[in-house]
Formats: sequence, C-alpha cells, structure tokens
Amino acid sequence: MTTVATQPFSGQKPGTSGLRKKVTVFQQPHYLENFVQSIFDALGGVAGQTLVVGGDGRYHNREAVQTILKMAAANGVARVLVGAGGILSTPAASCVIRKYRTLGGIVLSASHNPGGPDGDFGIKYNIANGGPAPEKITEAIYARTQTLAEYRIADAGDVDIDTVGSRQLLETTITVIDPVADYAELQQQLFDFPAIRAWFAAGHTLCFDGMHAVSGPYAHRILEDLLGAPRGTVINGTPLPDFGQGHPDPNPAYATELIARMSGPDAPDFGAASDGDADRNMVVGRGTGSEPLLISPSDSLAILAANATLVPAYQAGLKGVARSMPTSTAVDAVARALGIPAYETPTGWKFFGNLLDAGMATLCGEESYGTGSDHVREKDGLWAVLFWLNLLATTGKSVAQIVQEHWGRFGRHYYSRHDFEGIATEQADTLMAALRGKLAGLPGLALNGLTVAEADDFAYTDPVDGSVSRQQGVRIVFAGGSRIVFRLSGTGTEGATLRVYLERFVSDPTGHGQPTQAALAPLIASAHEIAQITAHTGLTEPTVVT
Ligand code: G1P
Ligand code: ZN
Repeated sequence: MTTVATQPFSGQKPGTSGLRKKVTVFQQPHYLENFVQSIFDALGGVAGQTLVVGGDGRYHNREAVQTILKMAAANGVARVLVGAGGILSTPAASCVIRKYRTLGGIVLSASHNPGGPDGDFGIKYNIANGGPAPEKITEAIYARTQTLAEYRIADAGDVDIDTVGSRQLLETTITVIDPVADYAELQQQLFDFPAIRAWFAAGHTLCFDGMHAVSGPYAHRILEDLLGAPRGTVINGTPLPDFGQGHPDPNPAYATELIARMSGPDAPDFGAASDGDADRNMVVGRGTGSEPLLISPSDSLAILAANATLVPAYQAGLKGVARSMPTSTAVDAVARALGIPAYETPTGWKFFGNLLDAGMATLCGEESYGTGSDHVREKDGLWAVLFWLNLLATTGKSVAQIVQEHWGRFGRHYYSRHDFEGIATEQADTLMAALRGKLAGLPGLALNGLTVAEADDFAYTDPVDGSVSRQQGVRIVFAGGSRIVFRLSGTGTEGATLRVYLERFVSDPTGHGQPTQAALAPLIASAHEIAQITAHTGLTEPTVVT
C-alpha cells in the first residue's frame, strides 16, 4: 500500500449525474484517484465496508476499475463486488447495491455521451438505497476534492476481473459477479414472463437496439434466452468501447438503425433502444404508412402509470408518481384520475430517491427517455421495455391502439425538446440571466395566440428531508396549460447546451393527429422571442430535436 501526495484539480464538481469529463481529462495522472479518494473521505472512510463497482464498458472503463479496486484495498474496504469485465449497467448496479445491502457503489459511465479515446468518461457514487448520491453528498465530495493532499492505493498488479469468483487484494476480497444474473432475477419477479413468452411464441415481434452499449448482454439474456424472442431480436447487442463510433442516446436522432427498421408496413410490432449505461429507453410502435409511431417519454410514463395494475409488481396500485419539472404533465392527468399524488422534482434521478424510499411514489420518469420504479433507485431502460411488453401481452392490443386509447381518455400532451448545443458558456449564462430578469414582467403577456399565466424559476423543497434546490429551470406557463421550460444541461463536457422544453395540451380527439412540431409551432416561436435565442447564441435552429 502506498500513500501518494497529490494536489487538487479544479472543476471536479459532479453535475446532473456524477462527474463527466473527456477521457483525456480522466487519463491525467492522479485525476481519477483524487476523485475516488474524495468519495471515500466524504463518506467518512470506507474501512470494513462492502462496495459495488462496475461501468458501461466504455473506453477507459477497465483501467478505471483496476484503479478503484486498488484504492478500495488500500482504504481498507472489506469486499468489492465487481461486474465481470468491469461491466454493470446503471440499473444493475443499483439492483446489486440493494440486494447485497452494500454501503454503496461506484458507477463508471458517461451515460448517453459518446465514448472512445476522444469521447467522454464519467464516475458517479450511489448510496446504500442504490440511487445516485444526493446533493449533500456530492457537495461534500466536491469540497473534499478541493483540499485533498494525498490518496491511498495498493502497489499491486492488476486483479482478474473477468473470472467470476473471489480473490484477495491486500485484505480486501474482490468478488467478480455475473453482471446480468441479479438484474434478470429481479425483472422476473416484477413482470408476467409467461404472458410475454406466449406473446413472442404467438409470432409477435420486437426489435431492441442495444446501440453497441451495455444493455446488449442484458437484452440478449432476458429477451432472447428467458423470454424466447428469436435471435436477432436484439441488434447492436455487443458492447464496444467506442459504441461503434455512435452516439448511444436512444432518441430518433441517434437510434437511426432502429428507426429505419421500424419504418414501413413490415416493421416489428414493437421497437426499443437503450443508452450507454442502459438506464434510458425509447419505445416505438409500428406506425401507419412509412413513419414509425414515436412515443414521447412523457407519454410513455403516463401510459405505464395508467396501466400499471396489469403488471404483477404493481397489481395493488401505485402509491404516487413523480416526474422531473420539464417532463410533460401527461402523468399528472393520470394521477388525478387514479386519485394518487403526482410530484414534480428538478431534473436528475437523484431527486426521486427520497420519494421512492419514503413510499410516496412508485413510478418516476423524465422527458429525457428515463422511466423507472421503486424496484431500484435508477431509471431502468430494459424495465420499461418489459413493462410495455407486459402490457402488449396481457391486453392483446397494438402499441398504436394503447397510445390512441390513452389520448382519447386523458387528452394529448404534445411534447418536444429542442437542444441548442455548443454554445459558449458565457453566452448561455447571459441568456439565462436575461430570462430570469424578465420573469416578473411576463404574466399577462400575449404572443402568438398564447397568454402567459405564470413565469418563475423552479425551486424544489424535498418533501422528505426539507432540502431546497433553487434555479432548476425557468418555466413559463400559458393559460390553458401549455408550457415552455428553459434550462442549461448539467451533463455536457464542452461549452453549454440550452434545452428548451415545449408542451401543449389538446383534449379534443379530433386534434390528436397533428405532427408534433406543427402542433407546437406557436410555442416554438414564443420560446425564441422570449429568450432571444438567436441574438444570444447565433443559432436560428436547434441542433437536436427530440
Ligand atoms: C440529462 C437529462 C436528465 C437526466 C440526465 C442523466 O441531464 O436532461 O433528465 O437525468 O441527463 O441521464 P442534463 O444534461 O439536461 O442536465
Ligand atoms: Zn444513461
């Protein structure tokens, strides 16, 4: 064991979901080590504890796992559970932390950000409930990074992380586990596997796009091996360190192979994709004509909530639902009908943890292709796909039927997110500051046929622990419930990204067939006028529309 003298790095501040930087930043001597020691120190030491370690398999994953194992040993950790090959999807890591009641876990991922030598890397600490560390802990970790003077690391060769079983590193037991087994067992307890197996046996079809990321092994095992879907159901199912040079973000802009396969009359009954670390999901139905039926994540959350009692795990009903503030209010309409509470939290899964732990919410979701429940404390991509399969199997309906019936009953919440990427940080900050300065004067303003009813900067008081999070996004609500939300991304590694979230409610079914962007046109125009996006950024159009 050696103690290495070091100096603080600036900027080791966790964002929406852990610390994310370029791989080259993480490759600097001491960079990862400083952050890991800061996690251990912020926890008050980890001697005698059990930790979980794994990641999404991206470039630098294996090296980082080795470093963390050696540091865990030097810091006196009793046992580390590590996914074979250094692999654990984010929801699987959450599952393992909970199942084995460990102190917590370290998840190596930059989620949907591209990988490879020039791509992104990330590290995140999850607490004993299996969920992302709350702000109190991430702030303590950051504070520690700024004062750190030394870290401890075992002066040892690499550990075998590929063979399942236990081995010793100093006094620490390193137990390499099958990364899929515990997760697959949990899913079998939640869903009606026999019904889904029968659905596949009857000839129904699915295309699941693993996007060359970590969901592949999980999807092969669960969908093909356990549920009997034919081989080939899972495409791009082998994780690659650079995700096949793709952008492992399951949305229509990046999951292009899935969208191509779901286009046209011969498309499979159901399509889905998952991101780098397998916590996101996009679900797609067979459309009419050549266009696939894209289901907005906000609608997907609402549909799962409305039909939850068809799933064994949620048969007794939901305690409540929660969504991030920018996510559409479609699920709120369902909650009203079910007579259960709906919570509105800031962006980022860490804000759902307390609600789930306290038994106040059962299902949670974000517009950014994230859905999950109290079965783990992370969003869970494959879980959402299994939920949809359970609904398809037990209702015998098509995706289109389920969606249309849902809109018929609850109305349709047209929804889109416009991202303006690669903005200079000062320009983005100036835009947001100008917007905040205007808020008080906006109510009553009429533009493009809409009248502003309320405008504020979202602040959240956690109903469980009373902690307050401010400046979580500027929201402008119009008479009739349409909304525009503006916020800056907290997961990027270069410059700033402005996210503009647009929502419009239409209750009359005769108005449910419009193209989304056309239905949102007055809101899009208003967003540009209110925030002066072009004047501040030079961009006239978003770089990504989802
Ligand atoms: C983005 C999403 C957010 C999600 C996070 C982690 O964060 O918008 O909903 O929780 O990734 O997957 P952002 O870049 O907007 O801060
Ligand atoms: Zn992710």
